[in-house]
Amino acid sequence: MTKPLPVALIGQKFMGRAHSNAWGQASRFFELPRPIVMDTVAGRDGAELSAFAARWGWRRATTRWQDIADDPTIELVDIGTPNDVHREQALAMLAAGKSVACEKPLAGTLADARAMRDAAKKAKKAKTFVWFNYRRCPAVAFARQLVREGRLGRLYHVRATYLQSWGGPATPRVWRFEKKRAGSGAHGDLNAHIVDMARFVTGDEITEIHGAVARTFITERVLPAAEGAGIAKGGRGAAKTGKSDVDDAVLFLAGFKGGAVASFEASRLATGWQNKNTLELHGDKGALRFDFEDMNLLWFHDETLGPATAGWRRIMCTSGGNHPYAGNWWPDAHVLGYEHGFVNMAADIVKAMSGVEPEVPLPDFADAYETQRVLEAAMLSAKERRAVKLSEVK
Ligand SMILES: NC(=O)c1ccc[n+]([C@@H]2O[C@H](COP(=O)([O-])OP(=O)(O)OC[C@H]3O[C@@H](n4cnc5c(N)ncnc54)[C@H](O)[C@@H]3O)[C@@H](O)[C@H]2O)c1
Repeated sequence: MTKPLPVALIGQKFMGRAHSNAWGQASRFFELPRPIVMDTVAGRDGAELSAFAARWGWRRATTRWQDIADDPTIELVDIGTPNDVHREQALAMLAAGKSVACEKPLAGTLADARAMRDAAKKAKKAKTFVWFNYRRCPAVAFARQLVREGRLGRLYHVRATYLQSWGGPATPRVWRFEKKRAGSGAHGDLNAHIVDMARFVTGDEITEIHGAVARTFITERVLPAAEGAGIAKGGRGAAKTGKSDVDDAVLFLAGFKGGAVASFEASRLATGWQNKNTLELHGDKGALRFDFEDMNLLWFHDETLGPATAGWRRIMCTSGGNHPYAGNWWPDAHVLGYEHGFVNMAADIVKAMSGVEPEVPLPDFADAYETQRVLEAAMLSAKERRAVKLSEVK
């Protein structure tokens, strides 16, 4: 009889839903070495929590996340809370001998991220994972395969953008706009993903930030309802406002160890784009491009075909047996969406927890710390208006 894997989750909102769905679906679409037990969910809003647990299939619910650390039956803890609490929660779980799957960015600050990496290293038996879910889009994992097969040859360019537009002046000052809670704005939220994707697909590491700019366009926002929106400040009907002290956009240029030059751009004010997470690579033998808003497609240009027939080829990455994960889902071109990346990742985590190495590598705390170093170096570059070598950021 295979030993079940009891999982607990902290956080019951956006990622709480995405992760609950993933834990619930993984064993329906993948043959897993161990059955998943969705044991406990922890959240702060007790009134909503029982309904959340019932809806998504959690056996128990608690408003004290520390209960999970105290429960010897839980093996894996999934953290889907704001960035400033990742450290405290991850360290408590690792100290209790549990494995941890934490949301990205690993933390709001490099110091927190370092403490998490070090605690993971010390906790010998525990495994760690970070939810860089875009690695698990079939098109992104397939792009990595093509690069590894040498289909791009010598890499010249890496061009990544993550453009959203939800952060306009009318958007309330939720935790994502508070530096002490989020660490940064678009940078840790969006650049974290594309830096991870670029490192993952190229298999190469960034060694220098050549220059960067970070900009906060909107410095004051209406407070969310719970914090006083709608409460008169000066006159009747005026909503209370609070400071928004994170970047709305961060752009930077970087160099890879292997010689490629790279540009990264993240914004929450890119009107017209909603979730335009793109990666483009150009090498001497070929080129690739991916855009999450068309996430089932990978575009490949084979330079070796010569000028008469070379050109962008549209690859629908849904062919079972040919494209990563595709065989676990639907027939060709019965397309996948946002939630499938999380389901694919939950399945891979269960494999890793059972001693089976997934085909698509999973980022652990040490790996996510390397992404966090790149983010830190880019912010330092923007602040001091200079090039920053990664070796300066330990
Ligand atoms: N992988 C992705 O694509 C992706 C997408 C969105 C968010 N995220 C990351 O997921 C994390 C959560 O983001 P979200 O969008 O789900 O936020 P959210 O605001 O929707 O939900 C946060 C949850 O954490 C709970 N919480 C807040 N403070 C807490 C505390 N001190 N102790 C216990 N629980 C607490 C809240 O009650 C809520 O349930 C962040 O690190 C974020 O960067 C990742």
